Amino acid sequence: MAESRAASAPLLSTSALGRNFGGLAAVRDVSICLHQGELHAVIGPNGAGKSTLVNLLSGHLAPTAGLIQLDGRDISGEPAWRMTRLGIGRSFQRTNVMSSLSVLENVRLAAQAVAGLRLSRLFTPAARENVLVEAARHCLERVGLMGVEDRPCGLLSHGEQRQLEIAMTLAARPRVLLLDEPLAGMGPEEGERFMHLLKDLAREHAILLIEHDMDFVFAVADWMTVMVDGTVLAEGRPPAVRANAEVQRAYLGGHA
Ligand SMILES: Nc1ncnc2c1ncn2[C@@H]1O[C@H](COP(=O)(O)OP(=O)(O)OP(=O)(O)O)[C@@H](O)[C@H]1O
Ligand SMILES: [Mg+2]
Repeated sequence: MAESRAASAPLLSTSALGRNFGGLAAVRDVSICLHQGELHAVIGPNGAGKSTLVNLLSGHLAPTAGLIQLDGRDISGEPAWRMTRLGIGRSFQRTNVMSSLSVLENVRLAAQAVAGLRLSRLFTPAARENVLVEAARHCLERVGLMGVEDRPCGLLSHGEQRQLEIAMTLAARPRVLLLDEPLAGMGPEEGERFMHLLKDLAREHAILLIEHDMDFVFAVADWMTVMVDGTVLAEGRPPAVRANAEVQRAYLGGHA
């Protein structure tokens, strides 16, 4: 957390991480640390490599250079399903939500996808069902969606859909949460609620947040990394990043 950051060991870290697409270095020489209890924002202009970085950390892309470590253990190049099992959660995209099923049912399915096999060895089908439903309820409570658990997902508001995506991610019991522009399309009121949810989740997780809304980012981030052209231009606490002349020139402009 804040003052003790340098002293505590990172939960997830990268070292000289890189990913090329043909001749393009979408991510190059990126070394960052995510700490438990910290909301770490990654900002930068379009095409800076932010989503590619998330795809590397979530195992959806394999690095072409460098290391990814979880608790000091090398996990570079592990596939996405392994990363999920290791505790790296990435918010589900809307395409993973089945809109005709209820909110609870979607989260239950997400919980089943991760815990199903383990539970099937330990419990009867009825007991397994109870465990999964309880786990799903817990995730919905966590994100503030318990009032609408029986509603078909297709009828949720935009902000509620995003809360649901977080609940589905939590169903895998992650330690790290990777959130790529979770606010996109939210109104100010929904955004405000979402901000409180992220701050709350950041107490128990290491969160990597990619977001273009600078007012939001500077209000929630404990730590920031600024990427430009695939690499890290600057990092630090929000006030230092805001005051950095290079960052202002490359990205912040009017927000400085
Ligand atoms: N699968 C891919 N194949 C080829 N090039 C890619 C691929 N994915 C990303 N790129 C390129 O890598 C660079 C970084 O893209 P990325 O999506 O990571 O940027 P970003 O920072 O997330 O941008 P935005 O803010 O617009 O979401 C861009 O030039 C992009 O065109
Ligand atoms: Mg992106």
